Amino acid sequence: MNTIFTRRSIRRFENKPVEQEKLDRIVRAGMQAPSAHNRQPWEFLVITDEEAKQAAGKMTPYSGMAAHAGAVIIVLMNKKTGDFENNLFIQQDLGACTENILLQIAEEGLGGCWIGTYPNADNVRNVKEYFKLPDYIEPFSIIALGYSPDENRFIDRYKPEKVHYNKWE
Ligand SMILES: Cc1cc2nc3c(=O)[nH]c(=O)nc-3n(C[C@H](O)[C@H](O)[C@H](O)COP(=O)(O)O)c2cc1C
Repeated sequence: MNTIFTRRSIRRFENKPVEQEKLDRIVRAGMQAPSAHNRQPWEFLVITDEEAKQAAGKMTPYSGMAAHAGAVIIVLMNKKTGDFENNLFIQQDLGACTENILLQIAEEGLGGCWIGTYPNADNVRNVKEYFKLPDYIEPFSIIALGYSPDENRFIDRYKPEKVHYNKWE
């Protein structure tokens, strides 16, 4: 069964760093995502430093797990890529990028969790202030990742009644 089906949100981590080559492949997977007009409007903050992980743990009401993660990736929107005001698809681009990262995390035998950040104003401000991000860079998602006692495992969510072939009724 492929990783799309077995990926789970994993929120408990062992006190063990994530190897650099795994981090590299995980970020590469993010950059392989589709994006409107192929604008690739993403940047990545990869956090392995203990102090910054502790800070990330306080950036949203639900980001506490980041403090104990092997690493944290903050996926950022670069508003200078294309015409941001008219780039109605930028959030979709960053969502696809975040999902690719989560899938690669599972592929690497690690656990990870998407921590919702954008568009909550407090979350966005907390990240921007701590990392001193320029105006044109906005945080989109925080991803906690690492080795975990919990496993990625299949949960069947298939609901045939949600599938509509050729017409609604
Ligand atoms: C936009 C978004 C925001 C999320 N934010 C959080 C979060 O702040 N904290 C958390 O523990 N999980 C968060 N999740 C993970 C969901 O709770 C999780 O994907 C969902 O319960 C389904 O479980 P699964 O990922 O194991 O399939 C978020 C997921 C998405 C897509």
